[in-house]
Amino acid sequence: MTQLDMTDDTYHPGARYALPRNQSEFDRLNVQHKYLTKVICDGGLLCDKSIKLGENCCVLDSGTGTGIWAIDLANVVPKTAEIHACDVSDVNLTPNFPPQIHFSIASVTSLPLEWSNKFELVNQRFLSGALLAPEWQKALAEIYRVLNPGGAVQIMELDPRRVVPDTKVATQVCAAMTKACDMLGLQIDVTEHVSELLREAGFVDIVHETKRAPVGKTWGETGVQGTLSFAGAFRNLSGIMVKVGLFSSEEEYLRLADKLPEEWDTHGSHFLCTIATARKPV
Ligand SMILES: C[S@@+](CC[C@H](N)C(=O)[O-])C[C@H]1O[C@@H](n2cnc3c(N)ncnc32)[C@H](O)[C@@H]1O
Repeated sequence: MTQLDMTDDTYHPGARYALPRNQSEFDRLNVQHKYLTKVICDGGLLCDKSIKLGENCCVLDSGTGTGIWAIDLANVVPKTAEIHACDVSDVNLTPNFPPQIHFSIASVTSLPLEWSNKFELVNQRFLSGALLAPEWQKALAEIYRVLNPGGAVQIMELDPRRVVPDTKVATQVCAAMTKACDMLGLQIDVTEHVSELLREAGFVDIVHETKRAPVGKTWGETGVQGTLSFAGAFRNLSGIMVKVGLFSSEEEYLRLADKLPEEWDTHGSHFLCTIATARKPV
């Protein structure tokens, strides 16, 4: 399929990103963070409970968005820990970002050279809407480079191609999403490949787990948060859906996408979310 050139003014040069950066997306990312922490990481920020962050630890949140993961981490590690966060844009960064967290404008595919062998842990979450297939190799090679020997990586990604069960509206919206990502060259199926990509990058002790991410009122407050997170994401894709030519207007797409919450409330659906952890060899 022909890929579209999205490297125009709307999109940061060198980075294709399917979602907008605005207040709606800021609020959604923060709700999504609380939800993912609860349903995927058992209430914590680290899924691998064997990772211990000591007094002088150095941690990076790569592709930080609002910075919420790094902010929450700063509240649970010793004050002497050094926390970094980076993103290609600071538009959605939390206002008055805590000064003790070092924020840098940097692409996950090209981290600062002086960060080699610096970090005990790198967290990277939900970049599938931003990275082309070859960029995943670069991003993981960069994480490998900036980790200390023995350091850990935590990657979390959702598979947006399918909601279980295959209900009518969700099937249509997921199909449109998959097609749009294919047209943009984004690696939408990265959850299937992340372990192999980590292995190819040189990582060891790779642990790959897939968990259910519930959506819909059937699941109580958690399901409501899931709907806000993922129906919100599909909603915020309206611009890109028109841009790639799959819908003639945002209104046309939203007439479909806005039926998702009702469908999920009725069926008690779920997505599949993958968490992969690994270490750089000592
Ligand atoms: C879906 S958000 C996830 C944010 C955060 N990781 C979270 O889970 O809340 C994706 C973020 O990746 C950023 N991004 C897109 N392309 C990037 C790149 N090449 N390097 C670094 N960040 C990038 C976007 O600006 C956006 O803030």
